[in-house]
Amino acid sequence: MSDHANGESAANTARKPLVSPKALLGVGLLVAAGIAAFVGMPASQVEATPIRPPEQVYASTCGYCHGQNVGPIILGRKLPADAVKLMVRSGLNSMPAFRPTEISPAELDQLARWIELSSKDPKEKGK
Ligand code: HEC
Repeated sequence: MSDHANGESAANTARKPLVSPKALLGVGLLVAAGIAAFVGMPASQVEATPIRPPEQVYASTCGYCHGQNVGPIILGRKLPADAVKLMVRSGLNSMPAFRPTEISPAELDQLARWIELSSKDPKEKGK
C-alpha cells in the first residue's frame, strides 16, 4: 500500500482532527450498546412507556384468533392469570409466543388478570 494512494496522509498532517475516527467509532459502539441495553430493559423500569389497556391488547393482539374460531375461547373461563402469562410468553402449537417488546411485562400483568376476571363475550365465536 502506497502512502499516496489517497490524499489522507496529507490531509491528516495539514489539519489534525480533534477526535480520531477510531475514537468516534468507539463512542458510536458505546452509544449503540447503551441503546441496546435500554431497549432490553423491562418496561417496569421505563416509567414513561405508556401501557395499553388490556381491552386494547386483547382486541388487537389476541382477538383475531380467540373468539374467531382460530383459538379457543379464553374469556369468561376464569383461566388463571399465571397460566395466561405462561402461554403468552411460551406459545403452544398454533398459539404464537409474544416477546416483552410486543407485550410489555406490565401490559401482560394487566391483560392476564383482565382475562381471568372477564365474562364471556357473546359476540365471540368458537369453543
Ligand atoms: C395466531 C392465533 C393466536 C393468537 C394471535 C393468540 N392465540 Fe392464544 N391460542 C391460539 C391457539 C390455536 C391456541 C390453542 C393451542 C393449543 O392448545 O394447541 C391458543 C391457546 C391459548 C391459551 C390456552 C387456552 C386454554 O384453553 O387452555 C391462552 C390462555 C391463550 N391462547 C392466550 C392468548 C392471549 C392472551 C393472546 C394475545 C396476547 C393470544 N392467545 C393470541 C391461537 C392464538
